Amino acid sequence: MTTQERTFVMLKPGVLQRRIVGDVLSRFERKGLKIVALRILRMDKAMVEAHYAEHKGRDFYDKLVEYTLSGPVIAMVIEGEEAVGVTRRLAGPTDFHESQPGTIRGDFAARTRLNIVHASDSAASAAREIALFFKAEDMCEWEDNNAQWF
Ligand code: CMP
Repeated sequence: MTTQERTFVMLKPGVLQRRIVGDVLSRFERKGLKIVALRILRMDKAMVEAHYAEHKGRDFYDKLVEYTLSGPVIAMVIEGEEAVGVTRRLAGPTDFHESQPGTIRGDFAARTRLNIVHASDSAASAAREIALFFKAEDMCEWEDNNAQWF
């Protein structure tokens, strides 16, 4: 049985700065996932602390917060079959040493802290993270009914 899911993805500040937004977004599109909400924003400190609350106290936490505040991020909601797991596999492991070529981190990340993309690790995390960045009315449902033209 397949499950339609929504997950949260955030492209970290280096992605805009390196002009690789299109390259990273295309990984999700090529896999057939749907972008149903998207925004560019500068997070404030309270928002970063809420988003990364589970990492508070870790040795990398302060640097992670500093990096996330260092420029705009691109936040999105991605929908599709098993979207949470599929998106995590497209992203590749958090540790840049372990991420295989062909994954987003494997192809673009040279540091674990600067690892290009955040993707929710479970449906529960996705719901919490989506609610931090988006309102229900920001979700834009759409059908694939023009896909035959491309
Ligand atoms: P992300 O998926 O956004 O979730 C938490 C982030 O903390 C992670 O990606 C990395 O950017 C960062 N992170 C996790 N582990 C480490 C680590 N060992 N060293 C540096 N940064 C880390």
